[in-house]
Amino acid sequence: MKNDIKNVLLTEEEIRLKVKELGQKISNDYKGKSLLLICLLKGSAIFLADLCRAIDLPIRLEFMQVSSYGNGTENTKNITIKQDISQIPADSNIVIVEDILDTGRTLYYIRKYLMLKNPASLEICTLLDKPSRRLVSVDAKYVGFEVPDEFVVGYGLDFAEKYRNLPYIGVLRPEVYENN
Ligand code: PRP
Repeated sequence: MKNDIKNVLLTEEEIRLKVKELGQKISNDYKGKSLLLICLLKGSAIFLADLCRAIDLPIRLEFMQVSSYGNGTENTKNITIKQDISQIPADSNIVIVEDILDTGRTLYYIRKYLMLKNPASLEICTLLDKPSRRLVSVDAKYVGFEVPDEFVVGYGLDFAEKYRNLPYIGVLRPEVYENN
C-alpha cells in the first residue's frame, strides 16, 4: 500500500493536532447545547471516531451514506441517500462531519435535505477542503486543511475502496489510478 503513495501530505501528528483543535472549537461553540454529529459514510468514519473523542460535551451520533451516480464527471453527478437517519430530536444542533469537500455537490445536497428536518442549527465540519475543485458553493464552518487538487488517500479516504486505513493522508501515484 505504502509503495503507491507519492508523498505524505499530512502526517499522523499534524492530523492529530488539527482534530484536537477542531474538537476544542466545537466544544466551545456548543457548550450547553444539544449537539448531534452526523457522519457521512464511509470516508468520514475515521475522522468522526477521532473528532468525537476530542469533543468535551455530551453528543449524539448518527450515520448517513449517499451514493453518487452519473457518467463519472462531476457535472452529471446525481446524489441519492443510501442510508438515512431515522429522526432528528427537537432542538438538535447538527454538525455534519465530512472527510473532504470537493466539488461541493454532496454537502450541498445533504445540507438542503437536513434543513427540511428543521434542526436548531446546522454546520459543516470537514477535515479537508479542495476549493480549487468547487462547482457548488458550500459554507463549512470548521475546516481542517485546505489541500491542492491532487488525488489524496488515507485516514478514511479511498481509491477503489483501498487505502482508507493509512494513518496519514498521502498523494496517490498517478500510475495507480491511471492503470485502473
Ligand atoms: C467522497 C467524500 C465526500 C464526497 C465529496 O465520498 O467522502 O462525501 O466524495 O465530493 P463532492 O464534494 O464532489 O461531492 P465518496 O462518494 O467517494 O464516498 P466514500 O465516503 O464512501 O468514499
